[in-house]
Amino acid sequence: MTGTRRQKLHDYHDMKIARSILWLLGPVIVGAGPSGLAAAACLKEKGITSLILERADCLASMWQLKTYDRLRLHLPKQFCQLPLMPFPQNFPTYPTKQQFLAYLKAYANHFDIKPAFNRTVVSAEFDYRCGYWRVKTVGLNKEEGVEYVCRWLIVAAGENGEAAVPQIEGMNEFGGPIFHTSSYKSGDMFWGKNVLVVGCGNSGMEVCLDLCNHNAHPSLVVRDSVHVLPQQMFGKSTFGLSMYLLKWFPVFLVDQFLLAMSHFMLGDTAQFGLNRPKLGPFQLKNLAGKTPVLDVGTLAQIKNGKIKVCRGIKRLRHNAVEFVDGEVENFDAIILATGYKSNVPSWLKDSNMFSEKDGLPRKEFPNGWKGERGLYAVGFTKRGLLGASIDAKRIAEDIEPRWKAAKAMKVSALT
Ligand SMILES: Cc1cc2nc3c(=O)[nH]c(=O)nc-3n(C[C@H](O)[C@H](O)[C@H](O)COP(=O)(O)OP(=O)(O)OC[C@H]3O[C@@H](n4cnc5c(N)ncnc54)[C@H](O)[C@@H]3O)c2cc1C
Ligand SMILES: NC(=O)c1ccc[n+]([C@@H]2O[C@H](COP(=O)([O-])OP(=O)(O)OC[C@H]3O[C@@H](n4cnc5c(N)ncnc54)[C@H](OP(=O)(O)O)[C@@H]3O)[C@@H](O)[C@H]2O)c1
Repeated sequence: MTGTRRQKLHDYHDMKIARSILWLLGPVIVGAGPSGLAAAACLKEKGITSLILERADCLASMWQLKTYDRLRLHLPKQFCQLPLMPFPQNFPTYPTKQQFLAYLKAYANHFDIKPAFNRTVVSAEFDYRCGYWRVKTVGLNKEEGVEYVCRWLIVAAGENGEAAVPQIEGMNEFGGPIFHTSSYKSGDMFWGKNVLVVGCGNSGMEVCLDLCNHNAHPSLVVRDSVHVLPQQMFGKSTFGLSMYLLKWFPVFLVDQFLLAMSHFMLGDTAQFGLNRPKLGPFQLKNLAGKTPVLDVGTLAQIKNGKIKVCRGIKRLRHNAVEFVDGEVENFDAIILATGYKSNVPSWLKDSNMFSEKDGLPRKEFPNGWKGERGLYAVGFTKRGLLGASIDAKRIAEDIEPRWKAAKAMKVSALT
């Protein structure tokens, strides 16, 4: 066996192909979002070649195709950069969506990451007979099935893999457009219109602000309670400040501090229909994964009456909405800012690691990144890009010794 041949075996491009079955030496990563890119880069740094399978035809498809134009990172850039490559110094504290995408493209180029695009993973199952994962994909043309066989499978398909679209009584009767925030780009088309935004997470709040900026008349459905925090306190990001305080103080105390400061800076949000949950923002985040809203100007528009806060929806009628408090109002359009869900249970045939209920790892942070038989998860910690970076580094460290052992066996078998 020549040196060149041996070298080639370490590359995923050199695969035994049999009837559209590809055997890979390195890990398969499902999803070319920030998490998948981070995992591939950390592996690459350790000399491990991986292959990313991506259903879309581009990197970071959620960011490129499913987010609105005015989006910026809402945490400072040092909490959103991926491992091994910081953001450019000339980027602002809160990079725009376009800057973030430029960074991700540069990141992929830097680590020479070339995902296989238009490959939707439809099933992944561990084959006990051969001790490998069998990952089935379809291409744009559904008959183009390719099966990848690999020792390690890294799930990076995103906590926000699919839009969560609730079924609301009377949806067929409404008559006007009803769509999810993942299809919303800007308020351009809503000039002068009455628009109901359902859901008061960061998406719902920001879409309302965008609608105001485009002279639409938004109303916001707040069916329960929500923590709204200022994005900055004392000229520092609230998130950064909280991370610092959490190093020294218990969550309960940090929450009390945040609530006192928020009350001082924003006033009593309950006065405007935004009741606070009983648990503090970080306690709630840790227990239920519910993200607090970082206010970027929406609250001011609620206070001055440009955004009306409504209770939960009872049912929809023709161009109108009936609320649980009995009020009925006319609307031209409805935007569902009702969040996202993981799609992992629809294709991963292993219910040990991921819950079938919510598609997230059963083990809590920081233990959810590793399953059994070479199965890993990156980006499922409800801790955004920071959580994904932590997972990616751990996964690469965990695979490295196994990869080296497998490589040594392969080479000795060939010599
Ligand atoms: C509007 C919005 C703004 C956000 N802003 C921030 C922020 O400022 N800071 C922060 O930390 N977090 C933010 N988040 C959370 C954000 O989702 C993540 O931090 C980040 O996108 C997670 O990256 P990911 O790679 O895990 O998931 P995603 O970005 O969702 O990428 C997953 C990829 O997997 C692909 N995929 C899914 N299923 C399959 C399949 N079956 N086969 C093949 N490919 C598949 C998808 O097409 C996608 O490209 C935001 C989320 C939203 C919705
Ligand atoms: N600038 C940014 O960086 C930015 C912008 C947007 C989003 N994000 C992030 O993206 C992720 C997703 O955010 P998101 O706002 O899209 O989703 P989200 O945080 O899950 O919020 C969904 C909202 O919809 C409500 N809801 C769900 N079903 C409903 C129904 N049937 N009727 C009424 N209300 C309903 C929820 O209310 P309940 O709480 O009562 O369930 C919640 O208020 C989060 O991590 C967020 O921080 C970041």
